[in-house]
Amino acid sequence: MNVPEIFDSLAYGPAPESAAEAQAWLEKHKAKFGHFIDGAFTKPAKGFPTKNPANGAHLAAISQGTDKDVTAAVKAARKAQPKWAALTGHQRARYLYALARLLQKHARLFAVLETLDNGKPIRESRDIDIPLAQRHFYYHAGMAQLAPTELPDRAPLGVAGQIIPWNFPLLMLAWKVAPALAMGNTVVLKPAEYTSLTALLFAEITQEAGLPAGVFNIVTGDGATGEALVGAEVDKLAFTGSTAVGRRIREATAGRSIPLTLELGGKSPYIVFEDADIDSAVEGLVDAIWFNQGQVCCAGSRLLVQEGIADTFHTKLKARMDGLRIGDPLDKCIDVGAIVDPAQLKTITDMVANNTEGETYQPATTLPEGCFYPPTLITGLAPSARLMQEEIFGPVLVSCTFRTPEEAIALANNTRYGLAATLWSENINLALHVAPQLAAGVVWVNGTNMFDAAAGFGGVRESGFGREGGWEGLLAYSRPAKPAKPGKTPAPFEGDGGPADPLDRTAKMFIGGKQARPDSGYSTAIHGPKGDLLGHVGTGSRKDIRNAVEAAAKATGWAKSSAHLRAQILFYLAENLSARADEFANRIKALTGKSGASEVEASISRLFAYAAWADKLDGAAKPVPMRGTALALNEPCGVIGALCSPAQPLLGLVSAIGPAVAMGNRIVACPSEPFPLIATDFYQILDTSDVPPGVVNIVTGPHADLAKTLSEHMEVDSLWNFSSPDLTAPIEKAAAGNLKRTLSLFPDWTDPATEGREMLAAATEIKTVWIPYGV
Ligand code: NAI
Repeated sequence: MNVPEIFDSLAYGPAPESAAEAQAWLEKHKAKFGHFIDGAFTKPAKGFPTKNPANGAHLAAISQGTDKDVTAAVKAARKAQPKWAALTGHQRARYLYALARLLQKHARLFAVLETLDNGKPIRESRDIDIPLAQRHFYYHAGMAQLAPTELPDRAPLGVAGQIIPWNFPLLMLAWKVAPALAMGNTVVLKPAEYTSLTALLFAEITQEAGLPAGVFNIVTGDGATGEALVGAEVDKLAFTGSTAVGRRIREATAGRSIPLTLELGGKSPYIVFEDADIDSAVEGLVDAIWFNQGQVCCAGSRLLVQEGIADTFHTKLKARMDGLRIGDPLDKCIDVGAIVDPAQLKTITDMVANNTEGETYQPATTLPEGCFYPPTLITGLAPSARLMQEEIFGPVLVSCTFRTPEEAIALANNTRYGLAATLWSENINLALHVAPQLAAGVVWVNGTNMFDAAAGFGGVRESGFGREGGWEGLLAYSRPAKPAKPGKTPAPFEGDGGPADPLDRTAKMFIGGKQARPDSGYSTAIHGPKGDLLGHVGTGSRKDIRNAVEAAAKATGWAKSSAHLRAQILFYLAENLSARADEFANRIKALTGKSGASEVEASISRLFAYAAWADKLDGAAKPVPMRGTALALNEPCGVIGALCSPAQPLLGLVSAIGPAVAMGNRIVACPSEPFPLIATDFYQILDTSDVPPGVVNIVTGPHADLAKTLSEHMEVDSLWNFSSPDLTAPIEKAAAGNLKRTLSLFPDWTDPATEGREMLAAATEIKTVWIPYGV
């Protein structure tokens, strides 16, 4: 092509990035890698090849980690952990800073290696993945420095097992490794089998940084190695990957008291209102869906466009798709690279080929040889269509239209996922009206796919739980330095024995703001310590739990109520309890045989504490390095189920209701199994305290049965077990169904440490809202 022809066609010439340095690095290792354990590479063992998906070229042989390898890595990490944790924050900060600097020094090598192994365009790995990974280590060098003074009440967990996917190999490593190390944990990481190379290069730079042996370890391998790590003696598990595997991990760890962070799949809505800056919204979409071959878990892969602009928007989008350059990912002028592996390519191809709905558009480009899939747009799909609901994880955008903002919100939330959401509108009122109503852990306003170490990232619903990034990310890698005093582990409740009594007409529960008879038609006799009959409570059943959850689910107004109102109502509850303090103290005495006065006093004080917190748990404005701010907002989890402690029946009940209600949740509380009568007295307090119907529901009955129904219920978002450690494993196993959050805690509720931030954190989800701000 001569110069005038080039000016005529404006065609791009090839601009390949050199792979020489990366190839030399592979050759230095004879293209064979062992694991990285206790500061050194192990001998390469039997495994599998890792290939360049763009051309199928063999890159290196990766070892398949066995149970023995995992055990050795965990042992090394365990040995190194106390010394690592004993360093000063400043000493750890210097190591993290050294890692950040080395990531910068070797940035080009990392970028090229990432592109060779994963297939994403060099522009993406060079300008997004690697700089963000560096930023994570810089940010967490600062966190290590500040943690001792800013988080003096937090201690490391120990050894963290971390399992990551293939779509952002080095970045996912950075997200997980940097906060873990900053807080004094040591790490065993399992990279994805398709993309282990940058992790292995990172292992090498930990040697260059002089990181003590055993602080960071890698075991490579496939899902079986991941499973071995899940089964190993780790103190924390952090996983990013598919919802199916996340669910298995939840089940496999049930009852093991291992803190979990699960970052799972998504089908994130991308909402474009008719007053949006259309060209920017088109560009955002191109970036989110096509520059990364759609292999971004939080990408706005579900386009919802307002009817009036749908044709214009789709036309502009198609024109942009026509101009996308697909090809050698190492070419700096390439927009769309290769799909990571033939297996993933087949999944995408089949999903699109099997779709019979809507209209499919693909530009008329000839695809290069290798693992490539064309940018694809499918318009006119019904909201319930399979491709609108299921994750494709490829360069395929699905689209449907809406008429009103309310319809947009309903469509956006019509998914089992809740990872991220994007919305475009030039009307600030509309944008800020819609953002809080989107069920997602992250919301981007007039922008998309923005990430930063300072801003929390993570999902709700079946997109998992836990946040990575920011101060909140550090909570996931630490525990209270002085945990609340443990209470006496209650003996499993034996009950009064024998079948439940026929219904005593006084036996009521509290559902939807009214006293209600149990559906079972049975009641349970409650006796005092000397065997005297004190009364009856309803024997709650599956149906009662369902009714209570339904009432709670309907009371959505509570989540939107002002913090001031919630505070007032909690103060009012305390006041009404105080007015009847003697009566409650006598009841406690009759039930337990112990004086109840101090428990009533502690319960009043606890309600005051949560009334106080209702309007004081601040969010934060995160200083992200771009023109905007990321607001970290404390949102309620939704519907919380709580099995209350038998140790202090009244205090245990208010210790569950208090934080849940203060933070805007609705609760289905099951009062302590041996002393439920205390709750039936509490109904009148609820009646007279202006608690809106459905916000607090109380179901009495055998906890094992009630726990089962609550943990299996899809509309329960979080389940708290303060009742018995025996219930933890079955609850956590069943909670995998809708990936609800769980909390199992058996403290001495009289310890003031139990009314602090731990419970408030359990009662909230952080939603990060990115908004343009500043110049
Ligand atoms: P995957 O869930 O199959 O694999 C993820 C990692 O888990 C890999 O390292 C794999 O070897 C390991 N693994 C597989 N089976 C395992 C088991 N039984 N026990 C323990 N570990 C196991 O997901 P894949 O295909 O690698 O990644 C794509 C998926 O990940 C997509 O569905 C995507 O939505 C999700 N993803 C989510 C992200 C998020 O931040 N929420 C980020 C990136 C991907």
